[in-house]
Amino acid sequence: MTADPLLRFREEFPILATSTYLVSNSLGAMPRSVPDRLAEYAEQWQTRGVRAWAEGWWDMPVTMGSVIAPLIGASPGEVVMVPTVTHGMSAILSALDFPQERNEIVMTALDFPSVRYAYDGLAARLGARVTVVPTDDGIGIPLDRLLAAITERTRLVAISHVLFRSAYVLDVMAICAHAKRVGALVALDAYHSVGVMPVDVHALGTDFLCAGVLKWLCGGPGGCFLYASPSATAQFTPALTGWQAHRAPFAFADTMQPADSAWRWLGGTPVIPALFAGIAGPQIVAQAGLDAIRAKSVRQTQSLIDAADVRGWKVNAPRDVARRGGTIAFDVPHAAEVARALLARDIVIDYRPGAGIRVAPHFYTTDGELSDCVAAIDEILSTGSWTAFLGVTSTVT
Ligand SMILES: Cc1ncc(COP(=O)(O)O)c(C=O)c1O
Repeated sequence: MTADPLLRFREEFPILATSTYLVSNSLGAMPRSVPDRLAEYAEQWQTRGVRAWAEGWWDMPVTMGSVIAPLIGASPGEVVMVPTVTHGMSAILSALDFPQERNEIVMTALDFPSVRYAYDGLAARLGARVTVVPTDDGIGIPLDRLLAAITERTRLVAISHVLFRSAYVLDVMAICAHAKRVGALVALDAYHSVGVMPVDVHALGTDFLCAGVLKWLCGGPGGCFLYASPSATAQFTPALTGWQAHRAPFAFADTMQPADSAWRWLGGTPVIPALFAGIAGPQIVAQAGLDAIRAKSVRQTQSLIDAADVRGWKVNAPRDVARRGGTIAFDVPHAAEVARALLARDIVIDYRPGAGIRVAPHFYTTDGELSDCVAAIDEILSTGSWTAFLGVTSTVT
């Protein structure tokens, strides 16, 4: 058997020594250097005080954005850090006008609800209308149906690259090309693609992309990012803004003069500790390489599908490699209780009603961990030990 070169990164993630960590679709494992980076932050605050702003903190949303940029095929300076994806997607929406003849926003029924909540509320106030493209199976969105919804009336297509519930990969290349043909803009929510597969904003031709370091980039909460194409930055000014977006923030002028660069997508004072915590994960992912990470993900997700098929468990994930992201959900009997039994054994997965048990191998996952997880499910079911978790109502991861 050939050794898996990506396993050399395991020692960077201490949690892998104490649990079978299969939940990077929710919260990626913490790099072991994070406590040092947070100590560095505290040291700077303690010893440099307010001078720390001029010595790097103020620029961090942009300097860290330039660390993220190569992971999405962007150029340095085109990516800035924002507090949440919901905020970033809302800033994009706030930059657009919606004339009556082009006032539609196209989304899908399987986009992340947080973004939908914000878009539904904002759209109504901006004179826009959200069209939600339905799903037939709860797993994917038919491409033809999605393309048909994007017309000369569409101002913005605001969709997920990979759907959070099923890890279904939308054909964003075809969607961006079609949107361009009819004069619509595209904003991708790429939270479930960046870090587990190659993403190239320039090749895709997307106008905007938002994602975060929390999941597949192993960077923890608070480090989200926004890419805007140079032409989008030149054309649009977000109304959801703040003083970091001003071209001369320390002039404290009465009126907003947005920066010419991607700084214009920023808001108020950046959340510095999250940026300190968040940088190591993307650096390790970059070292590991996204082509290698994707190849391994495809192989390991296939092995999970095969294991589920052998056992007759319903697979709630795309089987087609081109449409399959990094997470496999399968519905085993008594899935909620089985999930709790797995967690009690430090096999960390998550469970979603309707989807089942979700298993998310990442570049640091061994094949043995996946077979251990499947064997543990077999045993929990055959011994009936899942019954000990009947009626346990605590939220599962
Ligand atoms: C696809 C997707 N978009 C957005 C979010 C939420 O992002 P935020 O909490 O940063 O607004 C999530 C969270 O899991 C997600 O899966």
